[in-house]
Amino acid sequence: MSPAVKTVCDLAAKKAAGEKITMLTAHDAAFGALVDRAGVDLVLVGDSLGMVALGYDSTVPVTMDEMIHHARAVRRGVKEALLVGDMPFLSYQVGEWDAIINAGRFLKEAGCAAVKLEGGAEVAPLVAAVVRAGIPVLGHIGLTPQTAGQLGGYKVQGKDAESAAKLEHDARALEAAGASALVLECVPALLAKRISAEMKIPTIGIGAGPYCDGQVLVSHDLLGLFRGFTPKFAKQYALLADQADQALAAFRREVNSGEFPAAEHSFGSLVEEKEAPADKKA
Ligand code: KIV
Repeated sequence: MSPAVKTVCDLAAKKAAGEKITMLTAHDAAFGALVDRAGVDLVLVGDSLGMVALGYDSTVPVTMDEMIHHARAVRRGVKEALLVGDMPFLSYQVGEWDAIINAGRFLKEAGCAAVKLEGGAEVAPLVAAVVRAGIPVLGHIGLTPQTAGQLGGYKVQGKDAESAAKLEHDARALEAAGASALVLECVPALLAKRISAEMKIPTIGIGAGPYCDGQVLVSHDLLGLFRGFTPKFAKQYALLADQADQALAAFRREVNSGEFPAAEHSFGSLVEEKEAPADKKA
């Protein structure tokens, strides 16, 4: 086994050693600590925050300030894994200045080691600028949720020859721009295999099949905590929302019936001491 990932540079070494890379999302300190204990290489403060924690319909409304607030919380829970901040919609697309300043906020204010941003060849100049400023960047192509509207919805990308060629071109452009790794979301497995074989930097798949150099999932999906929508690729390793339903309803029932709190959840006696008779008093 190769040593633990200490910097984004170690990701390529893992790929070269044929070892899989693991990444999970976290949006607060408690989740950060949980996923870190699982021993994953990378913890992503994803802008999935907007949907799984903030109640938005998409990731589009998520702001930089919300991302920084949550990334700072995750930082307090993560001890080992590399922390990656996800750049929200319009925090980088408008130009190099915004891209560098906002990427820098993840490092300076939240202690992240790297940022991730969505887009292909069109954002390569921005990736290059951020990398030149000394900030490691992970790319993200295929289904890019921030621009899902332009892609015709949350759909598998690269199914025909033309769009597959575009994704291969995007991957090459991002690698050339200095990206340290590439998230491939919702692309056919054999296309992901081709892209992974072609590139020196690792690919981290989500809905991109088994041939990527690593895998990422949204922790809320993996744990069965998010009921909004469960994509086909999101294997549910637990059904915690169902367990939460049962536990929370049990609390309400037991409070109403007087079963909770019992003696073991209370301090001191639950019954009044009998008043001692007057002649026994000291
Ligand atoms: O925001 C997020 O959680 C992500 C993952 C789906 C990779 O970008």
